[in-house]
Amino acid sequence: MTAFAADLSEPPITMFGPDFPFDYDRWAGHPDGLGSVPTDRLGTPVAVVGGGISGVVAAYELMRLGLRPVVFEADQLGGRMRTASFPGHPGTVAELGAMRFPPSATTLFHYVGLVGMETRPFPNPLAPATPHTVVDVNGARHFARVTEDLPTVYQEVYDAWTKVLEEGADFAAMDAAIRRRNTATIKALWNRLVPLLDDRSFYGFLASSSAFASFRHREIFGQVGFGSGGWDTDFPNSMLEILRVVYTGADDRHRALVGGAQQLPLRLWRHAPGRTAHWPAGTSLASLHPGGPRPAVTRISRTGGGIRVETAGGAAEFAAAVLTPQVRLLLSRIDTAEDLFPADVWTAIERTHYMGGSKLFALVDRPFWRDVDERTGRPVMGMTLTDRAPRGVYLFDDGAGAPGVMCLSYTWNDDSLKVAALPAEERLDVMLRHLRRIYPGVDIRSRIIAPPLSVTWETEPHFMGAFKGNLPGHYRYQRRLFTHFMQDGLAGHQRGVFLAGDDVSWTGGFAEGAVTTALNAVWGVMRHLGGRTPTANPGPGDAFPAIAPIELPY
Ligand code: ARG
Repeated sequence: MTAFAADLSEPPITMFGPDFPFDYDRWAGHPDGLGSVPTDRLGTPVAVVGGGISGVVAAYELMRLGLRPVVFEADQLGGRMRTASFPGHPGTVAELGAMRFPPSATTLFHYVGLVGMETRPFPNPLAPATPHTVVDVNGARHFARVTEDLPTVYQEVYDAWTKVLEEGADFAAMDAAIRRRNTATIKALWNRLVPLLDDRSFYGFLASSSAFASFRHREIFGQVGFGSGGWDTDFPNSMLEILRVVYTGADDRHRALVGGAQQLPLRLWRHAPGRTAHWPAGTSLASLHPGGPRPAVTRISRTGGGIRVETAGGAAEFAAAVLTPQVRLLLSRIDTAEDLFPADVWTAIERTHYMGGSKLFALVDRPFWRDVDERTGRPVMGMTLTDRAPRGVYLFDDGAGAPGVMCLSYTWNDDSLKVAALPAEERLDVMLRHLRRIYPGVDIRSRIIAPPLSVTWETEPHFMGAFKGNLPGHYRYQRRLFTHFMQDGLAGHQRGVFLAGDDVSWTGGFAEGAVTTALNAVWGVMRHLGGRTPTANPGPGDAFPAIAPIELPY
């Protein structure tokens, strides 16, 4: 359900979030730039491990500061912003990773604007751009254009959610404070809730509220929930994770990136900033990496000379390094020297919990789902939320004359594991079997014109998981990862390595967290090399003492 429709009389919501409400969008877009490093440091090589959106943003901004980013990428530039096209059909777009972006991701959208990408509404359940939504729960099917078309029990669920958010989480006050960027109020509200809710699961929070006393209500909520729906696979996660998403509009009014999400990191790679401290006009990450990014990193350690980064082909030393792979890679594929992090940061890395995620895509001759069934007067098929195997079916079209792309299934956690071992063709059989039950008259298979595409992030060699999801009791671990860029308290030999990525942020599974933690790392590198921010444009580390995430006792 698209909850909390935008009230245009209100200032817009942002994704900075209640834990560390720093306005990254202003910092990134400020005409004075992010800061400067001492002249004798200009051109200093800085390693950036991982070429996803976090690594590319970090590298781009380091370049703007006049440093020399050296990007290492084991797989494809873009990371989980991975767009595939169907073989033989160039230009078709199957978003294997990130696919929908909330307008509240204002820092991400700063970079989207910079590279001149267009966006369009993403066809989420019951969204204005979605012609038709079908909800299939417990064997019953409902057809809807807007939430009000659904049976009254859905309205009851929506009302119950509104009620628990208000009673248990000060929703209206937080919403107003985030819109006004009223940091003091945001902190006051959140600092009260963190100790109360860190040990509560999403499900526990619902089940202990009088508004969700009915099991049926909880079940339906798990299916249609808020925003993009289907969040019951998050039921075991910490309630704080859910509140961050809801408060910041992260699951609302999603946009798709026209041409594919991967174009954002790829275009930023080629983008020449207007003015940099050191590099000649026209310099881009692409021009600094004539042979493309360096290959997979195998080992990271410290030597007298700095941070040593090894690949199968050689090794180099850097004054600083930004590490953006999912942190669990530092425990396995990348042999990371123990003394680079304090013991409690290693514990936080070990405890990091990832959600699984799978998708299956098919290409069809045309968007047949828009055809109207004469008997019912409804489109023959719609965006579908189901409690059976496919979970979420998303329909994408470029007009009646072009092929259509169907995401026949998007699943998380256990629902993803159910298909993880199945090849794409077998997944297709499974999903079509379920869709035949929901749409008895529709022969989807006869429309398919290319082999299916699938992904399971937990079996991807350089990821092993889709995105972070903090479990109850994980606040302290998350805080250690996020605040690691503030290094004054670290031993000298532990300084100069900076973590970034959505799993280091407070919003796992959202590109905004990848981008904002990249900016934290850039601030950290600048500081580590003796640089500073302009007086008129203080950075996240400058703001840290005033707005640091609350510390919980041990
Ligand atoms: N942003 C991702 C999506 O729209 C999913 C992230 C959800 N996070 C979570 N904990 N379930 O599909």
